Amino acid sequence: MARTLEGKVALVTGGGTGIGRAASLAFAREGATVIVSDVNADTGEETAERVRAAGGGAVFIKADVSRASEVEALIDEALRTYRRLDCAFNNAGIAGPIGSLTHEYPDDGWDHVIGVNLKGVWLCIRCEIPHMLAQGGGAIVNNASGGSSARQALRRMWRASTGSPVSPAPPHWNTPRKGSALTRSIRAPSARRSSTLSSPPCPTSYPS
Ligand SMILES: NC(=O)c1ccc[n+]([C@@H]2O[C@H](COP(=O)([O-])OP(=O)(O)OC[C@H]3O[C@@H](n4cnc5c(N)ncnc54)[C@H](O)[C@@H]3O)[C@@H](O)[C@H]2O)c1
Repeated sequence: MARTLEGKVALVTGGGTGIGRAASLAFAREGATVIVSDVNADTGEETAERVRAAGGGAVFIKADVSRASEVEALIDEALRTYRRLDCAFNNAGIAGPIGSLTHEYPDDGWDHVIGVNLKGVWLCIRCEIPHMLAQGGGAIVNNASGGSSARQALRRMWRASTGSPVSPAPPHWNTPRKGSALTRSIRAPSARRSSTLSSPPCPTSYPS
């Protein structure tokens, strides 16, 4: 059977472990060449190696998604290497400090969790869109979490940060709908016609 992503180039941020590693292997199984990116070079290299060991094409490029210069360098290097970018899975994310009361939550924890989970997604989108528009199409998927709208009392700022990139939770979850949706706020010329921009809801937990 023909593979759906034959000849395509896919970027996965946070590809070193968990969902990002699984997604990297899945992209490769469908025929895409995968650019695995992560702030952790050891795990990121290992994912790229696993993709290659499974018969796929992959390179690792280190980048901290919360830093504009590193995201720009990542996209530049990806394009220098492969000349195109068809799929981007903006997946890198952190839990941040867990368990603090809201008024005791540390400043640096706030900056870190918002910097990675929210600003990091925006920095990636900002760099990805122009190239997808220029090449006539592409698909961007922003990972977030259903936990952003669930009652996870100990993960307050994580909920706020991961809720922001996503669309509202689907009605069947019976949870409050969140309106703060980075993904839904994206506006780009021809985005509807030539590109797909989405944040699929995550109906299950992934044991990472
Ligand atoms: N695990 C779940 O059940 C679940 C459910 C829904 C959504 N999510 C979301 O999916 C994403 C991945 O979750 P996971 O469970 O695979 O987590 P994970 O901790 O296994 O993987 C996250 C990866 O992101 C990388 N990372 C962290 N900070 C980074 C940064 N600044 N720049 C680049 N990479 C960075 C880590 O090194 C790690 O490899 C997160 O955004 C999370 O909020 C997870």
